Amino acid sequence: MKYLVTSALPYANGPIHLGHLAGAYLPADIYVRYLRNMKRDVIYICGTDEHGVPITINAESKGVTPETVVKENHDLIEKGFKMAGMSFDIFSGTHNDTHAALSQEFFINLDKNGYISVKDVEQLYCEHDKMFLPDRYVEGTCPICKDTGARGDQCDKCGNALNTLDLIEPRCKLCGKTPVIKTSKHWFLDLDKFEKCLDSWLESKTNWKSNVKAFCKQWFERGLEPRGITRDISWGIPVPVEGAEGKVLYVWFDAPIGYASFTKELFEKRNAGPLEWEKWWKGGNDVKLVHFIGKDNIVFHSIIWPAMLMGQNETQEWKLPDEIPANEFLNLEGQKISTSRNWAIWVHEFLEIFNPDSVRFYLASNAPESKDADFSFKGFQDANNGMLASIYGNFVNRNLAFINKFFNGKIDGEVKYTEEDDKLWNDVRKELREVLDCYETFRVRDAVFHLMEIGRIANKYFDSMAPWALRKNDPARCNGVFINCLNLIDTLATVMEPVTPGSSRKVKKMLNQPEEFDFSKLFTPQIQSGITLGPVEILFTMIDDESIEKERAKLG
Ligand code: MF3
Ligand code: ZN
Repeated sequence: MKYLVTSALPYANGPIHLGHLAGAYLPADIYVRYLRNMKRDVIYICGTDEHGVPITINAESKGVTPETVVKENHDLIEKGFKMAGMSFDIFSGTHNDTHAALSQEFFINLDKNGYISVKDVEQLYCEHDKMFLPDRYVEGTCPICKDTGARGDQCDKCGNALNTLDLIEPRCKLCGKTPVIKTSKHWFLDLDKFEKCLDSWLESKTNWKSNVKAFCKQWFERGLEPRGITRDISWGIPVPVEGAEGKVLYVWFDAPIGYASFTKELFEKRNAGPLEWEKWWKGGNDVKLVHFIGKDNIVFHSIIWPAMLMGQNETQEWKLPDEIPANEFLNLEGQKISTSRNWAIWVHEFLEIFNPDSVRFYLASNAPESKDADFSFKGFQDANNGMLASIYGNFVNRNLAFINKFFNGKIDGEVKYTEEDDKLWNDVRKELREVLDCYETFRVRDAVFHLMEIGRIANKYFDSMAPWALRKNDPARCNGVFINCLNLIDTLATVMEPVTPGSSRKVKKMLNQPEEFDFSKLFTPQIQSGITLGPVEILFTMIDDESIEKERAKLG
């Protein structure tokens, strides 16, 4: 089995914040690291989503080209992801020739197979700015939930996708004036033709999360309709048919194709054969395709993108998504994250200040899996100080400090084990199995809970064995206890690697162990008498009130 894992392509229109990280990226990275440690064949694909109206609006307002906006944000996003330890196999972007060619091929195949229709449609047009107003070029009131801040393509309040003409009281985004209606020729993906296929495919996904199922059900109840996949703007991929001059593919048409075009790019970079990448996308049941997304992306991944894949109709069929772990949103100090109100924490800034592993750990322990979650500074401080530092960090520290102080960094000679050690490892193995099961089924919250259980078991063992007393009375038993403790530390470092990779690497160095995280060795203690420690360093520092206050003050 191969695993093809993707995270939603972030818009190259601004940096990413902690809400993004918690939803579509960190859970995916944890899953991918888990798969790698299980020695499964996995690739992890991501890159920036570089077309679309928000980028041109942004460029216009700054008086620069869209390319400039894209390049700047791509680099900023990539920097943030690197700091956060995201382990993509490729992080590309959609504004390139490989991607354009594959997107056009997708369109041409759909057209050839009879899934595309052409219509003259009424569009909003601004007479002041002399242009059509697709998508976010218009704002107005949502026809479904009546929120007044809806955009032409989507309402953020209720999460529904919209058409600009559905908006009540539309206004031009550029000048604020009321647009007029004009006709323009557009190409549509005939979603209705996929209704049966999509429905029975979705029915078969009995294990999918309820948020995904519920969204799809809503869509089917309203009935699937043809969806416009072209736009009257110049920034994007030209529509590859006659009569479409000056029009481009809609960004949501080309973006998901990025998952495939980046895969192609990846294997080109690896100098693999030209068809190697296709094994991943046309590999049938040998490949598990997993799309990590935020809940605002559900319909695109569970209905429109699968229809685009179904409609390719090639002799060797394209894969459909096997799993779509869609996460809910992360709020910030009890309020919705909003970049316009500066109610957001930018990843590339926050990680300059705090240990990335502390941030990963807190976001994982508090992941918005089945409902919205809240990032609070207090919660972050507590998770770091009360769990990471005082359970995991403390266990590492008290053992290594003791061994350095009294044994000169070396455990050597006769070793005695007792029944209590069997009990210890039985308890630990039970938790390990839980952790692995959580990783496998995208439950990072529960994974963290069980990881900390191992930490608690370890500290309790240390306390009840009281090695400080054994040192004089029973040196062989003292050795036995420390060998167990060192193996507990080694086990924790290995099994926590998906969540706190930087710290795991540090621990392996301190233990003088190879820097590998092979989960097949998890159940067999690796460290024996004769071990000499490496140089010891502090794993996690406490986060004080002052540094938290300073960050909180930057909000709003
Ligand atoms: N750029 C979109 C967003 O940030 C996500 C695109 S995901 C893809 O919401 F599948 F289209 F690539
Ligand atoms: Zn206008």
